[in-house]
Amino acid sequence: MADIIFDGIGKRYPDGYAAIANLDLHIRDGEFLVLVGPSGCGKSTALRMIAGLEDITDGRLIIDGVVANNLAPRDRDIAMVFQSYALYPHLNVEENIGFGLRVRGADKQVLAKKVRETAELLELSEHLKRKPGQLSGGQRQRVAMGRALVRDPKAFLMDEPLSNLDARLRGQMRTEIARLQKLTGVTTVYVTHDQVEAMTMGDRVAVMRHGVLQQLDTPRKLYDTPANLFVAGFIGAPSMNFMAADLVAVDGGIEARLGSFCFLFDRDDLALRPGLSRSIGDRVIFGIRPEMFTPVEHSGSAANTVTGEVVFVEDLGATLLAHIDIGSADGSLREIGHDGEGALSAPRLRVVLDGQMHIRAGETITLAVKAGNIHVFNAQTERAIRD
Ligand SMILES: Nc1ncnc2c1ncn2[C@@H]1O[C@H](COP(=O)(O)OP(=O)(O)OP(=O)(O)O)[C@@H](O)[C@H]1O
Ligand SMILES: [Mg+2]
Repeated sequence: MADIIFDGIGKRYPDGYAAIANLDLHIRDGEFLVLVGPSGCGKSTALRMIAGLEDITDGRLIIDGVVANNLAPRDRDIAMVFQSYALYPHLNVEENIGFGLRVRGADKQVLAKKVRETAELLELSEHLKRKPGQLSGGQRQRVAMGRALVRDPKAFLMDEPLSNLDARLRGQMRTEIARLQKLTGVTTVYVTHDQVEAMTMGDRVAVMRHGVLQQLDTPRKLYDTPANLFVAGFIGAPSMNFMAADLVAVDGGIEARLGSFCFLFDRDDLALRPGLSRSIGDRVIFGIRPEMFTPVEHSGSAANTVTGEVVFVEDLGATLLAHIDIGSADGSLREIGHDGEGALSAPRLRVVLDGQMHIRAGETITLAVKAGNIHVFNAQTERAIRD
């Protein structure tokens, strides 16, 4: 087992493309760390550098206390599970799992014992004599995992290992992999572009964008206190609503004006987020998660409420996802796209409501939000305004 340290790591591909910039990341011994971010942000590149499959341009990669920049892949004692888990079709499950150990000349009895134990762990014992062609997708996935597990490596690297599976199997394997990792305690770096996988599997999650680490934190902290607009929009589904607002000093606190709507941050709110007081007079970006709205009776233009027209409703069973146009009441409002790039024309909110609620397109609805549940970002730097 090992800890893995990226110390100022940079990666420039031979064609000049800078895929990773100045990455500092300490993956702790025994930790399940998820690397997440949109396509092309450098996740696989980072993972392949740990495995030794990609040269490192700048900085130091330290595995288990040793600078590993120039170590050959086979000398790193790291097992990688790729997205396409090519199994040997002519070998059965037992032989596939044991293959790596056998070619390394492992003792026959030791090998048989390890394969048996690994198969048991992965609930593959009854399929040992079957060929990959006779297995389901999820079982094949587990054989590929077994091939890595049986080696007892210092660390596991997994690059989108569940992307070939259907939704049900993905969910099942997600739990399985997280459980196995806890059981074996082997340091694991898991790459995905799926924020649900990141949130449910990782001890900590590193969010990347354009080769730059945006935030490294527990799933809970990423959800509760995203460091910037990008992380706020990327973590959480459906994603956060963003709107422009102006902060004005009033008696007893700060008022945020969004067109004709207004939100009050009182002294208690400001004590928790003193940074807001320094942003008076600024245009800021409000972020409100779809699940943070509560339907209320309409009462004029009460503070901390918005009123709008239901445009359409997606019925998801347990919950409803309502799309609400708050611009119909106020033409001066505009919504900001989730990257902070490009304003969308209609100021629409996505709102999660109770599945039992009766609501239909065309109706008017008023929603309340607690000031504490509003994320506020600097419009220029896109960083969260807190301390
Ligand atoms: N051999 C290469 N030469 C030049 N550029 C490359 C090379 N391999 C990858 N890149 C570029 O580096 C960036 C990061 O690629 P990488 O494969 O790490 O992305 P990723 O985050 O894993 O994306 P995905 O989710 O699509 O797998 C991309 O913009 C990609 O085009
Ligand atoms: Mg990739």
